[in-house]
Amino acid sequence: MKASAPGKIILFGEHAVVYNRPALAVPVTQVHVDVEVSDSSRRGGFINASGIDLYAELNSLPADHPIASVILKLFSALGISQIPDIEINITSTIPVASGLGSGAAVSVALIRALSSFLFHPIPDDEVNLLVYEIEKLHHGTPSGIDNTVITYNKPVYFIKGQPIETFTVGKPFTIVIGDTGIPAPTKESVGDVRLLWLKDKTRFEEIFDLIGQTSLIARRSIESGQPELLGELMDQNHALLQQLTVSSPELDKLIDAARKAGALGAKLSGGGRGGNMIALAEQAKAESVASALISAGARQTIITEIS
Ligand code: PMV
Repeated sequence: MKASAPGKIILFGEHAVVYNRPALAVPVTQVHVDVEVSDSSRRGGFINASGIDLYAELNSLPADHPIASVILKLFSALGISQIPDIEINITSTIPVASGLGSGAAVSVALIRALSSFLFHPIPDDEVNLLVYEIEKLHHGTPSGIDNTVITYNKPVYFIKGQPIETFTVGKPFTIVIGDTGIPAPTKESVGDVRLLWLKDKTRFEEIFDLIGQTSLIARRSIESGQPELLGELMDQNHALLQQLTVSSPELDKLIDAARKAGALGAKLSGGGRGGNMIALAEQAKAESVASALISAGARQTIITEIS
């Protein structure tokens, strides 16, 4: 039984979304996690995740191991107490801890493949809830945006705790993604922003409001077929993220390089401090923006069309 799940990028609103402001995120299908579950001649469960050098019996992993915790949570939701004789193969092209949602994508694909293999396929709403529970185990206070966009594989306008809203794209646009190659755990940047907010709630609530407004205006621009307006909004959103202290010299360097190469705007995407940045580019300029990112030190670039 096979299942896969895409990566994702946050277009607008990261961090502020933890404080109930809206954010926009879209799936990135060029990168994905693929999971295959099959019968095994060995007793118990065996996991093979070559990308992270993991070859192990499920029993031998601590219960809070990111992959074991997904499997155990699913077994408990399905009322399965004994590990079946199965082999689980996980492969991924999503860079880890870089803001592309690799953790949530592993959870979604694993739950889908495993539950179908065990003859208990789970509907999307339940997959989403289960993956959110797992995100909470590893990320502290996640907003739930990653699990939502990855489970439904659709653009989402996300406000924490509110029903899922997808949005339509009036006119396709091109985003260039640049990876700093620096892994940056979201839990840390989210924790640091929380400390700053606790010290000066008035100032940080104001920043969150401004970020929330960029998400709202961006959604209107996308829906009304005016994606060229997103460039300036991205620049504004990035400046606000810098005030939250979640950018980094490497991210700023890539963002600067993208703008100099003709991008209409650029910002970090995800938790920040490392991981990925995104730039809006006219389709004809996307390749040159991507090469400028590589020259400025990006480990990898992806050109994706949002449609
Ligand atoms: O680093 P990512 O892509 O998982 O995104 C984190 C987004 C935050 O808003 C910083 C945290 C959250 O839970 O929404």
